Amino acid sequence: MRMGENMSIDVPSPQSRAPLVLRAARDVDIDAVLAIEQASFGDPWNRGAFVELLDDPRVAFLVADADGEVRGYIVAWFVLDEGEIGNLAVADNARRHGVGARLLDGAIAAVRAADVNSLYLEVRDSNAAARALYASRGFAEVGRRRDYYRRPKEDALVLKLELAARAPA
Ligand SMILES: CC(C)(COP(=O)(O)OP(=O)(O)OC[C@H]1O[C@@H](n2cnc3c(N)ncnc32)[C@H](O)[C@@H]1OP(=O)(O)O)[C@@H](O)C(=O)NCCC(=O)NCCS
Repeated sequence: MRMGENMSIDVPSPQSRAPLVLRAARDVDIDAVLAIEQASFGDPWNRGAFVELLDDPRVAFLVADADGEVRGYIVAWFVLDEGEIGNLAVADNARRHGVGARLLDGAIAAVRAADVNSLYLEVRDSNAAARALYASRGFAEVGRRRDYYRRPKEDALVLKLELAARAPA
């Protein structure tokens, strides 16, 4: 799958019957992405951090779009056979409707298509929602970075999803 292709998802989106579509982020999405980012994190990325990811062939920067409205986004980057989820957030009023799971599944599909075998991410120790989401997709804890986060200071857990093809049983 190329990053620019849309992946239509056959579920109603929150707050409307508009279908939720995962697609590559565009420059016109950045305002909405930034609004979600700033509402979601105490130490948010700035505009430039998102803009420089647009059109990078080693990055999957996907948005969940419901009738032209961005409900969430995910960023994954990859080099050779390793990838990392760098960011994921869903608008506060759209949470618990499967948007985050769809974004994560889309990013996993994108890095898998790029021959990534190992996908990593960091998550706050206290972020029960995100940890439950990642666990539901098979991510396992492989390490801890002490005081990795600021505002507030907190450890990061390092999680890994093994994507390498398993030999048939
Ligand atoms: C984490 C986040 C992206 C989840 O997005 P979401 O759209 O609400 O998640 P989903 O509705 O797809 O939930 C998928 C699964 O995640 C888990 N989950 C999500 N929110 C949860 C919560 N508040 N408490 C417990 N489990 C939760 C559940 O296992 C859920 O499956 P279920 O609904 O069948 O129980 C969202 O809460 C968010 O944007 N948080 C702030 C930003 C953030 O923490 N990003 C991650 C940084 S590592």
